[in-house]
Amino acid sequence: MDVSVFGTGYVGLVQAVTMADVGHRVVCVDIDANKIKQLQRAVPTIHEPGLSTLLEDNLKAARLSFTTQASDAVAHGSLIFIAVGTPPDEDGSADLHHVLDVTRTIVGLMNEDRTLVIKSTVPVGTARQVEQTAREELSRLGKAHLCVRVVSNPEFLKEGSAVSDCMRPDRIIVGTEDELARSQLAELYAPFCRNHDKLMLMDNRSAELTKYAANAMLATRISFMNELANLAEILEADIEAVRKGIGSDPRIGYHFIYPGCGFGGSCFPKDIRALLHTAEHNGLPLRLLQTVSDINDAQRHVLFRKLQQHFPDGLAGKSIAVWGLAFKPNTDDMREAPSRYLMEALWREGATVRAYDPEAMSECRRLYGYREDLVLCPTRDDTLLDADALVICTEWKTFRVVDFDWLASKLRAGLVIDGRNLYNPQQLANAGLLYQGIGLPQ
Ligand code: UGA
Repeated sequence: MDVSVFGTGYVGLVQAVTMADVGHRVVCVDIDANKIKQLQRAVPTIHEPGLSTLLEDNLKAARLSFTTQASDAVAHGSLIFIAVGTPPDEDGSADLHHVLDVTRTIVGLMNEDRTLVIKSTVPVGTARQVEQTAREELSRLGKAHLCVRVVSNPEFLKEGSAVSDCMRPDRIIVGTEDELARSQLAELYAPFCRNHDKLMLMDNRSAELTKYAANAMLATRISFMNELANLAEILEADIEAVRKGIGSDPRIGYHFIYPGCGFGGSCFPKDIRALLHTAEHNGLPLRLLQTVSDINDAQRHVLFRKLQQHFPDGLAGKSIAVWGLAFKPNTDDMREAPSRYLMEALWREGATVRAYDPEAMSECRRLYGYREDLVLCPTRDDTLLDADALVICTEWKTFRVVDFDWLASKLRAGLVIDGRNLYNPQQLANAGLLYQGIGLPQ
């Protein structure tokens, strides 16, 4: 099929390459000329396993192209994906400005019927708003004979496994009551449903709410575990034992019950704020979700709080090694990352950070620039030079195996604070290290 994609951010780009890879002809458009130039040369603009090869292969096969010309994209695709950003407004609601602007652009340029597929995460009611905007625009431009069909098709990909999530989706939610649009989407996604049908048809509003509900449920599980971990510490119980104990119940399951230093990233915090706003706006404040969000706000400071407890005379002049800057492994994304809350608090207290991350070093430099109290180290082990304590913020694989005797010889205060519970506490204790995880007995 001929498909176009507006917006070459995370969602748009990954969606585009995977569609091209199963044989569709895909044109991507973005207003950022530098980004487009880079993508035309098959250089990925984001770090995502598997993306580079797909980009290169499909550009070579001429199934994928990139342009800044919206007119080319509108002429090309009978299906047009909208995957532009929906940044939060000051009050936490999603800003639909870009989505509606793109809708107007498409309508202005189209000379045949088009199906718009909304891939961006948007508040409930957006599809209707897009439909209405398109209709008004069509009649304003004297093109009322043309038809714009609108589909809500939220994405569920995870950063770090975005390509494989897109290639092997758990489900494909298609929200529209338009029969033709349904059959177009069924044809488009047929290659992704070869072994079993993953298409779930529903109305627009339910599709939009499904996206928020999924993220809100996952975030709720995490905040529940984090709160329980804090209780476990007081009770001298072991949250890791509790996690395994409850996860073995298939009704609960093992996924997304890992306690930690708070959830981050570009999705959970933003989507929760947006859903809270929608609910409030509609007269039904979501009390549970508000608490989930509050617990997370507090949990982001847990690493710093633990450090403070060990240095009652303050952290000024201390040198703290930080392992992991990205909000989770396999990405260079530091949006709302726990590492940022920790580093910023340390700097406020006058401490120096010696940090390492396998992928997010340049992102960290971009965010914080050159400053005396931030030393970006070329390796994990370099961070330990003259360090008082080590704090682990992200569970990268490369942090899993450590010689604890050697670590003990490096850290002046012999203190390891682990926001991801990576190690066996006994082994660190044997090496003479003070080890504090999340929800572990002391
Ligand atoms: C999340 C969802 O998992 C995707 O399904 C969704 O499509 C995406 O948001 C989105 O809305 O676009 P992502 O933000 O990439 O994906 O990251 P996750 O792997 O879900 O992790 C989110 C945060 O939760 C991370 O900070 C992670 O460290 C934390 N987490 C996750 C925990 O603290 N404990 C867990 O057990 C799991």
